[in-house]
Amino acid sequence: MNIEYETETFRNAPEAEPQRQEYFIGLCAERIKALQRIYGHVPTADIRTFGCQMNERDSEKLRGILSKAGYVLTEDEDADLVIYNTCTVRENANLKVYGRLGYLGGLKKKHPLKRIVLCGCMMQESTVVERIRKTYPFVDLIFGTHNIWKFAELLYRMLCDIPEETEQGEETAGKRSHDDGHRMIIEIWDKTDQVVEELPAQRTYSFKSGVNIMYGCNNFCTYCIVPYVRGRERSREPKDIIREVETLAQDGVVEVMLLGQNVNSYGKTLSDPVSFAQLLREVEQVEGIRRIRFMTSHPKDLSQELIEVMQNSEKICPHLHLPLQSGSTPLLKKMNRHYTKEEYLDLCRRLREAIPDLSLTTDIIVGFPGETEEDFLETLDVVRRVRFDSAFTFIYSKRTGTPAAAMENQVPEDVVKERFDRLLSLVQEVGKERCGRLQNQVLPVLVEHVNEQDPALVTGRLANNLIVHFPGDAGMIGKIVPVELTESKGFYYLGRNKIG
Ligand code: 5AD
Ligand code: SF4
Repeated sequence: MNIEYETETFRNAPEAEPQRQEYFIGLCAERIKALQRIYGHVPTADIRTFGCQMNERDSEKLRGILSKAGYVLTEDEDADLVIYNTCTVRENANLKVYGRLGYLGGLKKKHPLKRIVLCGCMMQESTVVERIRKTYPFVDLIFGTHNIWKFAELLYRMLCDIPEETEQGEETAGKRSHDDGHRMIIEIWDKTDQVVEELPAQRTYSFKSGVNIMYGCNNFCTYCIVPYVRGRERSREPKDIIREVETLAQDGVVEVMLLGQNVNSYGKTLSDPVSFAQLLREVEQVEGIRRIRFMTSHPKDLSQELIEVMQNSEKICPHLHLPLQSGSTPLLKKMNRHYTKEEYLDLCRRLREAIPDLSLTTDIIVGFPGETEEDFLETLDVVRRVRFDSAFTFIYSKRTGTPAAAMENQVPEDVVKERFDRLLSLVQEVGKERCGRLQNQVLPVLVEHVNEQDPALVTGRLANNLIVHFPGDAGMIGKIVPVELTESKGFYYLGRNKIG
């Protein structure tokens, strides 16, 4: 086994970040060159992302490092390196990862030098790591959300374990005679006050990008595991955010999505506090940026100042994702959401008054412990009154360690399922009606890609986030073009480019 990483190379590493990670990216590159010989090709890597936009953005950062280190990125789990960036918001997400791991284990038997890496929210749970250690011992590297910026260093440690000499020729029936260098490296931190930015990222889209403005969450909604796995709220300095947005704009990005678990409480913990609305005003000044989105807004922290900034902005998209979770005031209290049904309705009324073409989308949980039929009817009532453009509907999932997991009166599965179906059909009915309101209008669409099903079409988004398919070609990607919305399909549009 190669223990090079315990010697000189590590002692010589700079202590300051991001220089330290850049140093390890360089070492990874040398190592990957050396490994080409035993792999017989330039090593390939595949990252699978589960969960939210935050994880998507984290994966872009991991891809940036892999690509700089010399990996060829693929979308194939046969790759020499496979990374799962995991989510743990609902139990289902965890089950999916366990299922896929069984499959990856099979692939690794055929290709012993394959490397399997797990990271993301699920890895912040000690029970998960214990299970992986016991049941999936072939996993090579596990790290969490707090030290993701140390990826290059961890990757280098893992790559040092791969022997440069293998005795492939001596392989005997089912038994490997050579050392394949496997050793499980686990590095999980409980918390961090350090965030390292300015490492390379490889964006999925050349013309739009997520930008983290804060990390973690302080809200402790009683059903939610996020504060336990992502830690306390930490905001980035406005000047660092603006610099990142400027760099993106210079690189051809026209749309940014500001990301945080609760963007409305942005800036409160900074030594020089700044409100989210103030930050938006600054982002708006960046030349080249034409659309600004943000996610996610907690209703309790949405200020009048933000409504005014949205109302007066040319660039902030008329779309707000405003998780409701439940329409019942007693249930909202048990969820620790800090607003009532009436306050939520009043907020939506003020928003729509100020920004008449605003699209409102939401998240709703069905079957929170103790939810009665009456509580559920309150949720349906809010959906009917607010008329959401769309909603993500979730069946309550018990997350060990959260206060709700220990609550009595967990709702029986069949009752939850029946309520879920009723909610879904109402959400779809209302969404369809909302989508239809734009029929025959000509609106700007940012073209994202050539349509997968019909290459004569391109697919893009309206400012309010609705999808539009219309005749076009790859040359339009990244451009904002006027499109007549000819036919509403319920939750997307077919259209016609007004210039072409
Ligand atoms: N069960 C079901 N849905 C959940 N969410 C968060 N935690 C849970 C849970 N335990 C949903 C919330 C949140 C969205 C990201 O996921 O609706 O807004
Ligand atoms: Fe979870 Fe609530 Fe924080 Fe959202 S605001 S991440 S639901 S604890």
